[in-house]
Amino acid sequence: MMNILFVASEIYPLIKTGGLADVAGALPVALRKKGHDVRLLMPAYSGILDKVAPIQNKINLGNPFNTGDLILLETQILENGTPIWLLQCQSLYEREGGPYLDTEGNDYQDNHLRFAALSWVAAVLSSYGSLMKWQPDLLHINDWQAGLSVAYLKSWKMPHIPVVTTVHNLRYNGSFPMSLFSETRLSDELLTHHGIEFYGQFSALKSALVYSDAITTVSPTYAKEILTAEYGDGLDGTLRAHQHKVQGILNGVDYDQWSPDIDSNINTKYTIDSLNLKQKNKLALLKENHLDENLEQPIFGVVSRLTEQKGLDLVLEAIPTALEQGAKFILLGSGDKALENAFVELQQRFPQQVGIRIGYDEAYSHRLQAGIDALLIPSRFEPCGLTQLYALKYGTLPVVRQTGGLADTVFEEGPEANGFVFEEANTTSLTSAIERCMIFFRDNRGWRERQENAMQYDFSWEKTTTHWLDLYSRLLKK
Ligand code: ADP
Ligand code: GLC
Repeated sequence: MMNILFVASEIYPLIKTGGLADVAGALPVALRKKGHDVRLLMPAYSGILDKVAPIQNKINLGNPFNTGDLILLETQILENGTPIWLLQCQSLYEREGGPYLDTEGNDYQDNHLRFAALSWVAAVLSSYGSLMKWQPDLLHINDWQAGLSVAYLKSWKMPHIPVVTTVHNLRYNGSFPMSLFSETRLSDELLTHHGIEFYGQFSALKSALVYSDAITTVSPTYAKEILTAEYGDGLDGTLRAHQHKVQGILNGVDYDQWSPDIDSNINTKYTIDSLNLKQKNKLALLKENHLDENLEQPIFGVVSRLTEQKGLDLVLEAIPTALEQGAKFILLGSGDKALENAFVELQQRFPQQVGIRIGYDEAYSHRLQAGIDALLIPSRFEPCGLTQLYALKYGTLPVVRQTGGLADTVFEEGPEANGFVFEEANTTSLTSAIERCMIFFRDNRGWRERQENAMQYDFSWEKTTTHWLDLYSRLLKK
């Protein structure tokens, strides 16, 4: 049995802005089911205390950053009993906005400190487990927000436990102006090109890459892509230098949350043997969006953060052709204001065929996946992507760009065909993939076979944990 401290800045069902929360909410649970003692660490953002069990233990770690005392609360996630430490510090975490952005959508000015504090606490727990009467054997950190943990361990110059870093998205590198570095209380010795200096700034993600014992990314293809200048976001050189530590482990799906046969969020439950019931969800979704109720035409959908990464500007250009041929389009998303406005305008142009919901809505994301026929994911890069995996389970065929985890999970050709794939991130390629998809849908040519392939594929965490346990054991043997 291993003791693993798992650190993340968002964990479903406590708080979620994207796929990291889904992973942090599910992988530790799957590892615990295999008998390992995995415990979580996350900031106590506003509202979190309502979603956990009564606090069992409280420890004051002092005021190392002059932000007020850092207080560690020991509790469990109500929904599944997973042990979690919440880092409480009112001035850092109890705010009106999201975990990273204020209500206007701007980065908090003190994000460097908010996540330095989280990382410092992760390092303290890794080194002084006796404080909490629990000593981790291994530290597993996720993304830049926990990346400075290894820098603290490094600068304290003490022997320490192995550290695994998982990169969910290299684009967010947690880099900050050098002028803020002294606030982290880290040693200047780390500020070299081979350390955490990054184009004149310091980077929390680079710290994670340089000082961790192993680096994983969330799909095998993304693990290869990030070694290139095209996908490396300026960190490809660092990654190549540490290439021996890099490996891709595909994310899984929490089928307790995402299965059409048990999903209480959707209108009508269905299985592979009652796929015709999917139509009821389609009709319900059309009604909910006040759209034309003809079921003969395909509905294309999107559930996504609206950012450059996701390539949704291409959807704006490509989808009108499909709409003119009678298709429908339903989107749930939020983010970039220009994209939000452009999608609202699209709805005004095609009021009978387009349904746009700007915002974040977990339950609706399930209804959407169950009701649409095809999910569009034309990402410019995609470390793993979870929405295509959810779509597959709901017999909704993904139309994806061949990159990252999308390339590892969606196939247009061969006996495993389960969706539609295009290569180039441009309108022409997406338009032609949408066209192919419409032809398959209308002629009923192999659509059903694709749906069956899709629904049968097993991306459960249960299967994936083997890779994690192999990696952890390997590091602990060293
Ligand atoms: P990323 O983490 O890059 O955003 P993923 O595909 O890995 O992409 O995960 C996105 C997660 O966030 C999925 O669970 C998806 O359903 C959810 N999601 C994205 N946008 C919304 C939204 N507007 N409302 C509800 N859920 C959303
Ligand atoms: C990131 C990536 C996404 C991935 C998710 C979970 O947000 O953008 O591709 O699925 O993390 O690992």
